[in-house]
Amino acid sequence: LNFHANKERRHILEVLFNGLRRLEYRGYDSAGIAIDDSLSPLHSTSSPPPLVFRQAGNIESLVNSVNQEITNTDLNLDEVFYFHAGIAHTRWATHGEPAPRNSHPQSSGPGDDFLVVHNGVITNYEVLKETLVRHGFTFDSDTDTEVIPKLAKFVFDKANEEGEQTVTFCEVVFEVMRHLEGAYALIFKSWHYPNELVACKRGSPLLLGVKELDQDKSNNHVFKDAHFLSKNEHPKEFFLSSDPHALVEHTKKVLVIEDGEVVHLKDGGVSILKFERRNGSSRPASVERALSVLEMEVEQINKGKYDHYMQKEIHEQPESLTTTMRGRLIRGGGSRKPKAVLLGGLKDHLKTIRRSRRIVFIGCGTSYNAALASRPILEELSGIPVSMEIASDLWDRQGPIYREDTAVFVSQSGETADTLLALEYARENGALCVGITNTVGSSIARKTHCGVHINAGAEIGVASTKAYTSQIVVMVMLALAIGSDTISSQTRREAIVDGLLDLPNKVREVLKLDEEMKDLAQLLIDEQSLLVFGRGYNYATALEGALKVKEVSLMHSEGILAGEMKHGPLALVDENLPIAVIATRDACFSKQQSVIQQLHARKGRLIVMCSKGDAASVSSSGSCRAIEVPQVEDCLQPVVNIVPLQLLAYHLTVLRGHNVDQPRNLAKSVTTQ
Ligand code: G6P
Repeated sequence: LNFHANKERRHILEVLFNGLRRLEYRGYDSAGIAIDDSLSPLHSTSSPPPLVFRQAGNIESLVNSVNQEITNTDLNLDEVFYFHAGIAHTRWATHGEPAPRNSHPQSSGPGDDFLVVHNGVITNYEVLKETLVRHGFTFDSDTDTEVIPKLAKFVFDKANEEGEQTVTFCEVVFEVMRHLEGAYALIFKSWHYPNELVACKRGSPLLLGVKELDQDKSNNHVFKDAHFLSKNEHPKEFFLSSDPHALVEHTKKVLVIEDGEVVHLKDGGVSILKFERRNGSSRPASVERALSVLEMEVEQINKGKYDHYMQKEIHEQPESLTTTMRGRLIRGGGSRKPKAVLLGGLKDHLKTIRRSRRIVFIGCGTSYNAALASRPILEELSGIPVSMEIASDLWDRQGPIYREDTAVFVSQSGETADTLLALEYARENGALCVGITNTVGSSIARKTHCGVHINAGAEIGVASTKAYTSQIVVMVMLALAIGSDTISSQTRREAIVDGLLDLPNKVREVLKLDEEMKDLAQLLIDEQSLLVFGRGYNYATALEGALKVKEVSLMHSEGILAGEMKHGPLALVDENLPIAVIATRDACFSKQQSVIQQLHARKGRLIVMCSKGDAASVSSSGSCRAIEVPQVEDCLQPVVNIVPLQLLAYHLTVLRGHNVDQPRNLAKSVTTQ
């Protein structure tokens, strides 16, 4: 946060705390904040060291400890700042346990000359640490980040020793960046440079938000040369964040910072610089780019009438699916205007995709499961082999990717480090890269050749729900688009388009199972484990249902391909272990009936998800609890079938007393490897 206007300290703290609250879904094991200690005089050349607070636990623990400090030390909340530079951070531990000393801002040492907040991982921190220790620095934390402020201090001191009194904050940061390897978005604060913040990034996301505190009559939304806004210009407030959620309540005008760029905020003005090679030497050049406008409303990121984000996001699926399909389905008008789909982001690439030797789906977690659910229809309608890759595994194996491949990257956040790495790898190998994300302007959206936004709206609950169903719908539409040149499948495609149009209604219907799933959760509350069997289109439902139960309710759960039951999992079956079997009507129905019979024969404790009207037939060979769901086109059935399992996971978590939206040890968007 950096601004040019009169603001009280309470406002500054409030803005930073609220920003952290908005980011809490991305990390919540420790937090910290640094603000200015006392009035920074206009263009003063020195200021007192900043006030730094660090705390293990969630944001509220930090807020409480700051409030405590305010009471203990008479910190003046009414103090007015004309300029201010504050930073704050919420952490998801990668190096070092959650503890105040490992929280950010990390410091250059006594006096806090340089403070840094960091999103990412520095891979060469050990080498840097050794060098800095040799130069007399001592380290207090177990983090990789601590090398960064110490390196800044080292660079600053060295420049001063050499008499370069005029070393600028940006020069210090450029020099630090030269030594860093890994992924990072960084914000630096230093009392040597009062009223200034410098931010930079490589690999991790970073956004600059610009808020006009007065109406900007010039309406100039392009940053021209590297000049700072003068005092006479309209006061502005600037925000830096790794996530738009922290910005949207202040401004929708943002600049997506690119790798290698350095943002310099000073006295409520901004300039953006990048090193460019010119005539054999590299020098910083100013960057000009238009601001983008965030397509996000504050209401979207509030819980509304719900107790939890996950609950809200499960229940808003009829609407999110409608938004995903909006403007993309052609309802048809007889034989001259067939029912079809229109995916604007792909239209220039469909021919290349159709000519691919193979389509490779790449993703992690829920996004991988969504791709798996869509694989059968894509194979059927395109006739192209579709292979599945978990992003980290593709990278670990350095698996073969060819120029003739189409690689489809599926990611809700568009920032998952493993998926991004796999994307770089696929690009290097010459594949056509398609992105399917929920985040406009995200790294994956920008680095792929083409793609489709799922438009599911902000998803805050760490356990992905509405993004999953929207991802499946987008991939079914992808299959329809690729297959649209095949006359023999036209009837099938039209039936799917009809199914898509009616899907939000069917999801509305299945959501009525809420109370029933709560009852079931009550029955399962003390269980240690839950197996979920599925096959065909619903193998993915089994994996995703088990993932939901596991990640939020903290109950062990495993999704199993029913075809593999006899090859191991059957050994687990007894009268105690709860087993969910997905047996809705599709080409695999009779095989699933036989699975149910075999489980009944071993006195398995079954919960069977079946199509409406099938409850009696699935329990004919033994007792079981049946969950009846509406039947839809086979390739859309995973969208309907996952909903009761999402509800089950939600209620199990609430009943077991765990945090629904912030499950233990997990983060929404894993931007580190
Ligand atoms: C994390 C989240 C999962 C998510 C996965 C992939 O592990 O906890 O819910 O499915 O990342 O995230 P993405 O944003 O790439 O879909």
